[in-house]
This record gives sequence, C-alpha cells and structure tokens, in this order.
Amino acid sequence: MKRKHLLGLADVSATEITQILDTAEAMREVLSRPIKKTPALRGKSVCTLFFEPSTRTRASFEMAAKTLSADTSSLTVATSSVSKGETLKDTLLTMAAMGAGCFVIRHPSSGACELAASFSQKFGYDFHIVNAGDGCHEHPTQGLLDLLTIRQHKGEIAGLKVTMIGDLLHSRVARSNVHGLLKMGADLTLCGPQTLLPPEFGLLDLKMTHDCDEAIEGADVVMTLRLQNERMNGVFLPSVREFAALYGINARRLKRAKSDAILMHPGPINRGVEISDDVADGGQSVILNQVTNGVAVRMAVLYGLLGGEEN
Ligand code: CP
Repeated sequence: MKRKHLLGLADVSATEITQILDTAEAMREVLSRPIKKTPALRGKSVCTLFFEPSTRTRASFEMAAKTLSADTSSLTVATSSVSKGETLKDTLLTMAAMGAGCFVIRHPSSGACELAASFSQKFGYDFHIVNAGDGCHEHPTQGLLDLLTIRQHKGEIAGLKVTMIGDLLHSRVARSNVHGLLKMGADLTLCGPQTLLPPEFGLLDLKMTHDCDEAIEGADVVMTLRLQNERMNGVFLPSVREFAALYGINARRLKRAKSDAILMHPGPINRGVEISDDVADGGQSVILNQVTNGVAVRMAVLYGLLGGEEN
C-alpha cells in the first residue's frame, strides 16, 4: 500500500480495494496452514487502543498481528491511564515512545482516528493509524471483510444487488460498506425507518426505501445492521418490537431474496431484533465467514501498511 494510514474507505480506490482483497486471499492460505505464522512483520510493533468495547475487531487485529510475527500491546479505557483523564494524543505519544509503530484505534468520536493520524511525525514519532471504528463515521476493515466475503461467495461484486437494512444512521459499518460497495460496482439499496436513514445517502448512486419486503426482492446479498442503541440520543423508534416486525429478517422475508442469496451481519447480533435465530444460524448465513475473513483482511491491511518498511 502506498498510504500511511487506513482511516476509511471514502478515499480508497477500487484498484486499492482489489489489491487488499487479493492479499487477504493469500493471507487466508496462511491461516489454513497447520502452523499459522509468517515472519512478515517481525520487529514491528502494533498497539490496539480500544476506547469502546469489541470482540471481533480487537481479537482479530491481535491475531492478525501475531500471525505476521509483529509484537503486540493492547490498551483499553478501563485498565489504562485514559481512565485518569490522559488524552488521546498523550496516550499515542506515550506508546510511540515505547516503540509502537502502528495504532489500531476504536473510539466513540467520529474523526478521532484522523486526529490521531495528525500527530504522526509531528512530535518526533512516526506511526501508522488504522481505524477500527470511529463513532458513526467509518469502520473500514469491516467494510473490506464484508467485500471479501461477498466476493468469495458471489465471484464478482459488480452488478450484484445488495440490500442493507436497519440502523444506517448510526452505523459506521454502513458508511464503509456504502463507499466500498459503490466503488466495486454493486447495485445498492438501503432500507430502514425514516428516522434511521440519513438523507445524505440520497445524494449517492443508490436506492433508499422504507419497505423492507420491496428492498429484499431479488437481492443477491442481504446485509442486516445492528440497532446502535449506545449511539441513540433520543427516540428513533416507537419500539424495538415494531422495528423487529417491520425490518427484522426472518425466513419468510428472506424468501423474497434470490434462492442463493447470502445473509450477512457485522455482529454483534441482537437475535430476534434485526435477525431471527433460524436465519442467523441457517444455510444462507455467512456471518461466521465474515468473522474468519476479518483476520485475513486485517493481516492484509497490517502487511500493506507496515510490510514494505525498513525496521
Ligand atoms: N463488527 C464489529 O466491529 O464487532 P466488534 O464490536 O465485536 O468488534
């Protein structure tokens, strides 16, 4: 990769996305070996800085870094001096002073990763920033692993009918996927209640609807999104029950998609809300493939950013 940081998919070209996905395919081969270890990033130091909870993203970045033989360290709010009021800048510089050369950051504020990137090279330390989810802004590696999963199951992404359903307003996963899928030529439909469909998406080359059954009709890919209750400051829905009835994906609704459609969810799932148990665990679900691909994609990103550097 020619870039220093991965902050979002908005400024990543289709060619670059394809290169990352191709590298991730090679990384999947490494992960299928009995001994999952390559020396590619020996001597590099990757630090995960998570200011919000995570299972998949954090664990998979750590697995990815370790598989590539990078040294890893990990900070969370509760167990670091962030809980005593230390700023993002001071936390970054402190860890950089210990030798961290790449920070994987999850933060509740949109733009926090861009701010973090602005500190690189400014105070005598040179480091990479990877956005692991910032507020409602972007979650680029989730977007990439979703593209990889679609490509694996469907071959070409261009021309596929992809329907994204749920809380698009608060979802950073949605924003990264919208950028990635449009760049790769998908025919995209966004569906959700009026209060959770950001009007600015209407400026893009996609369809928007409040009718879930209509949105799913003939889809190749159905992607459900979690209700981001932690980011809702106000009342966006009459009730979760009503949302589940109108926008929840169940077997009856999924039948409207193509018979070989795949069902995706970035996780964590609110079972019985955005997706019912039977389809979450059913034959069309690729949710756990998405998780597996997360490790390969994060290996590809870390390798792309750090791999060509001198130690
Ligand atoms: N999809 C996702 O970001 O999951 P985590 O919050 O568990 O990392």
